[in-house]
Amino acid sequence: MHTDRCRIFLIGFMGSGKTTVGKVLASLLHFKFIDLDDKIEEWWGRSIPEIFDEIGETTFRDYERIALHLIRHYHYHIIATGGGIIEDPAQMTRMKSMGWIVYLHTPFSCIKKRLTRSGHHRPIWRDYFMARYRYRKRLPLYAQHATLTVDASRPPKEIAQLIHTSLKEDIRCSMRF
Ligand code: S3P
Repeated sequence: MHTDRCRIFLIGFMGSGKTTVGKVLASLLHFKFIDLDDKIEEWWGRSIPEIFDEIGETTFRDYERIALHLIRHYHYHIIATGGGIIEDPAQMTRMKSMGWIVYLHTPFSCIKKRLTRSGHHRPIWRDYFMARYRYRKRLPLYAQHATLTVDASRPPKEIAQLIHTSLKEDIRCSMRF
């Protein structure tokens, strides 16, 4: 069995619904779901804002790299990744070798609406202009690395269904080897 392909990584800017969509998709495929940020918080015993504030973003990116390495044996998983992972080409190469990459594309206006209403604590969103700058910088990279791009301004169940329909044959084939 070619289990190395039995993972789907969800990429996209913060607020694009990676966790919500990922959980629905996992149940459709009978896969497990993990959020890489949750794993970082669990393994390093600190919340993401604490890591940013007390140790800094550079160390957070190191943790992200280690976390991706540590999940290399997690097969049949849907993995929601942090929005900034796209800025590290080595991480993207590794993810591509480990599974499919699905980009949840969301217009910035939609992200702004979602993040403004939700009571989240994302360090990158604290500086609105910097967040918008990062969005613009990352936008072409997400599409460039994705196996599949979906419009994530749609309801999460529809998005999960769309990903399921688009990838289920490929996943079934990879499980036959
Ligand atoms: C980040 C996004 C966050 C989290 C961290 C940095 C970013 O994840 O990894 O705060 O650089 O965009 P979400 O995309 O899940 O919010």
